[in-house]
Amino acid sequence: MRHVPVMPEESLRAFRGKKISVFFDGTLGAGGFAKLFLSEHPEVKIYIGCDRDVEALETARRYMGEEEHRVVFVHGNFGDLEAVVRNCNITDAIDGFFLISEYHQCSWIKENGGLVS
Ligand SMILES: C[S@@+](CC[C@H](N)C(=O)[O-])C[C@H]1O[C@@H](n2cnc3c(N)ncnc32)[C@H](O)[C@@H]1O
Repeated sequence: MRHVPVMPEESLRAFRGKKISVFFDGTLGAGGFAKLFLSEHPEVKIYIGCDRDVEALETARRYMGEEEHRVVFVHGNFGDLEAVVRNCNITDAIDGFFLISEYHQCSWIKENGGLVS
């Protein structure tokens, strides 16, 4: 299984130079972006990784390696952001937000036969 994030350089550039404590990733997928992002942002305390696909979450958990302790894996729909964050019991403000869910560009989805709703 490949963990090739979509437009990684463009995505990472948007957050460079910013000090981020709590980050919300609404489309964690296999964790490709998350792992790159966490290696560039050692200051991040909590990375909320949300995905509606349980299998994607499990793949991301395995892929995250030593960064796993900074990630809160959440099964949910990013459209339910408020409830998702409330269930994480996180009281700090979220100061970074990321969504990438282009179906046609996601190598992981294509290789695994489609979305799970
Ligand atoms: C392009 S992949 C994510 C790639 C990931 N950001 C990376 O860098 O590896 C898209 C993911 O978005 C998830 N997704 C799509 N719509 C969603 C929604 N409304 N709520 C939560 N996850 C969603 C899919 O299950 C899929 O795992």
